[in-house]
Amino acid sequence: MVRHRRQSGAGFLLVGDTWYMIGEDRGNSWHPDVNMYSSKDLQHWKFEAKIIENGVTHPGLGKDRFIERPKLLYNKKTKQYVVWCHWEGKNYGASEAGIFYADNITGPYKFHKGERPLNVKSRDCNVFVDDDGTAYFISTIDENQHLGFFTLSDDYLEAKDCKWLFKGMRREAPAIVKVDGVYYMLSSACTGWDPNQCMLSYSTNMLDGWSKLEPIGDRIAYDTQAASILTIKGTKQTTYLYVGDRWMDPDLPQSKTIIFPLVFKDGKCEIVPLDKFEINYKTGEWREL
Ligand code: DGJ
Repeated sequence: MVRHRRQSGAGFLLVGDTWYMIGEDRGNSWHPDVNMYSSKDLQHWKFEAKIIENGVTHPGLGKDRFIERPKLLYNKKTKQYVVWCHWEGKNYGASEAGIFYADNITGPYKFHKGERPLNVKSRDCNVFVDDDGTAYFISTIDENQHLGFFTLSDDYLEAKDCKWLFKGMRREAPAIVKVDGVYYMLSSACTGWDPNQCMLSYSTNMLDGWSKLEPIGDRIAYDTQAASILTIKGTKQTTYLYVGDRWMDPDLPQSKTIIFPLVFKDGKCEIVPLDKFEINYKTGEWREL
C-alpha cells in the first residue's frame, strides 16, 4: 500500500492524531542517518527532521558505527522522547544497542550511550510499551541465537533485566502487538537481506509462555521482513497494520516500506497482502482498492 524510499526498519509513535515515523535513511547504504516523518493517514508523509545524523549526533556515527532499526518511545514520567536502536560496528561485531533522548519529538536528540545492554550481545531490535507504561527492548542476542526481552527502567534509558527467550531459535526482526490482552509476536529467521518465512507466536505473559512458532503469510513474507505493527483505534473497529521492509529492491538505498492489514479473527492472525487499500481513520475500517 505505502512504498517509501529510504525509511527502513521503521519505528512509529502516535501523538494525538499524528503518526511519527523514524527509520534508516538508506540513501548512502551502510551508514543511515535517522529521519523523522509525520502523517495523519499513513499515506501522505511530511519530512520533519534528520533526528540522528552521521558525524553530527555522534562522532563515530558514519565512520566506525552505524544504526539499524531505530524505534521511538515517549516516556510520560520524564516527558522525554527516547530512541532505542541497533548500534553496530564492523562485521556486526559490536552487537550493541544505542539510546538517544530529546525533550521535543523532532529533537535535538542527544546520545545517551551505546553498549551491550546488561553486557549481552544485541543486534536486530524493537520496542514494546505495555498498557501500564512498562517498556521492553526486544533484541536478537548472543550471536543471533536467542531473543532477549529487556525490561527498561522507568525513564526508558536503561535495560534493567533480561529474559532469554526463543532459545536457539535464531529469530530476528521481532515486532509485537497486544490484542485483547494477548501479545502476538512476528519474527523472521536470519537470512541477511533475503526474505524468509515470517513466524507468529503468542502469549498472555510478555516474559513467559510464548506459543510454538507457526508460519504466517507466504514463504518469504510477501518479500518483506517485519519492522513494526501499528494499532489504529477507530470508532467502529481497531485495525492492525503490518509494516515490513522490502530490502534490496533492487539495491539497499531503494529498499521499500510495505504496509499490509494484519487481521485477528477467531484466535487466528493473518497478513492480508493487498497491493492497495484505504483506511477510514475515524472509524478504523479499511477496504481493498
Ligand atoms: C537482517 C536484519 O533484520 C537487518 O536489520 C539487517 O541487519 C540485515 N539483516 C543485515 O544483513
